[in-house]
Amino acid sequence: MSLKSKMLRVLAAVLVPSLMLAMVSGCGKSGKKRTLVMVCNAAFPPFELVREGEIGGIDPDIVREICERNDYELKIEDMPFGSVIAAVQTGKADVAASGITVTDERRKMIDFTDPYVTARQRIMVRKDAGEFSIECLDTNLIGVQEGTTGDMFVTKHYREPERYKNVPEVVQALKTRKVNAVVVDEEPARAEAAANPDLVLLSVPLATEDYAFGISKRRPDLLNMFNVTLRQMKADGTLDRIIAEARIRCASNDADAFDGGLLDRIKADFKLNFVNGNRYRYLLNGFGVTMLVTVLSVLLGILLGFLVAIVRSTHDMTGTHVVADAVCRCYLVVIRGTPVVIQLLIIYFVIFCSLDVSKILVAVTAFGINSGAYTAEIIRAGIMSLDRGQIEAGRSLGLSYRQTMLRVILPQALRNVLPALGNEFIVLLKETSVSGFIALEDLAKGGDIIRSQTYNAFLPLMAVAVIYLAVVMFFSRLLGNLERGLQKKNRK
Ligand code: ARG
Repeated sequence: MSLKSKMLRVLAAVLVPSLMLAMVSGCGKSGKKRTLVMVCNAAFPPFELVREGEIGGIDPDIVREICERNDYELKIEDMPFGSVIAAVQTGKADVAASGITVTDERRKMIDFTDPYVTARQRIMVRKDAGEFSIECLDTNLIGVQEGTTGDMFVTKHYREPERYKNVPEVVQALKTRKVNAVVVDEEPARAEAAANPDLVLLSVPLATEDYAFGISKRRPDLLNMFNVTLRQMKADGTLDRIIAEARIRCASNDADAFDGGLLDRIKADFKLNFVNGNRYRYLLNGFGVTMLVTVLSVLLGILLGFLVAIVRSTHDMTGTHVVADAVCRCYLVVIRGTPVVIQLLIIYFVIFCSLDVSKILVAVTAFGINSGAYTAEIIRAGIMSLDRGQIEAGRSLGLSYRQTMLRVILPQALRNVLPALGNEFIVLLKETSVSGFIALEDLAKGGDIIRSQTYNAFLPLMAVAVIYLAVVMFFSRLLGNLERGLQKKNRK
């Protein structure tokens, strides 16, 4: 089989299932029942956590009951806590249910339902920390979850804290001595301490707070529905029952007891992180999402790249298409001058600011547009590297400019830049690891979910790194073969 047909087969094997998956995931909606989208940061037990691949806990359980009583279908999304309120404000979600404390500043941005739980902030330290009193917050490095009331409390009264995206990372920082104490909400802190015997909560309670659900100021109807149903649930005892049951479920920790040496520890950790609760599936599914997003983005990037490269090099060679060239230049400057995570967040929160858009689509759009800018310059370099005589030769054969471009220039240019395009694929594969910012469960996010469940950083991070490395090595190899094949062909 020739190299070309081999490549085509590989491409088809990856693409066809991916495209089918994208289509299927886009058309699975039932269309009948109204959908309510809830956002949370699902690493905050017992309020929200991922278990057996599903988001559960006090918040989802209460919201699910409210949905059932009002004939809504519930869709839950997991994202960084710092984005949860913005998601409701910008209309990406209907309700934020994430152990959110009611504060006056937040009230300016969203409406709150009646409170459903009273909570407290707590200080947690390592057992070996010795005496630690509240005054020590001034002089020690303190870890918090970004954007939480714990963060605001430490910042306002003590010092700039070390801010982490998720509670498990805050706890990990404490365990690994990056910080000397953390300020987090009491119940998640207790859950973490139960799983980490080397940590303790100080008995001194800090501020007492109310948790409530956040709803957009533009949805008084929804606010009313939540409050009416919450009152009913309080009156008939359902609210207390749901909260108590979720607490019990969360307390059943699945960490295996062990009392052996290092090898046993590794074995136990391996089982905890990948085998128990079939956690390996987060990596497997995440891997599928990462590949799908990368392949589709590269294709979109190539399409955009071609267009831009043709416009730019036509302008360079003939001086025409001034406006189109200026637009393309702007595109290149803006896209190459801003970080891809920011582009992703802008596309998610600002451009696609409606509820019902597939996150795969958002990610493909963002990464595709981003990759297009780099691909454009790669292809343009390929076009410019050809001898100008090629165009003249084409024209003197009676071909039009367009025909010369399509039949003579582009095929040669493409062949010259194929290795560089392959490289773009590899770069993009790794760049998509920021997809977790928009709650897309890609490979990196799969590792995050495992970490948030097992309170264990080493193995999940290693596993994610090894998978990326293996895929990159596989594709680099493929690329190397392709390059050698092309060189042989050129020599003939
Ligand atoms: N109650 C705190 C706040 O509202 C922390 C909430 C954090 N929630 C979470 N799911 N991580 O700021």
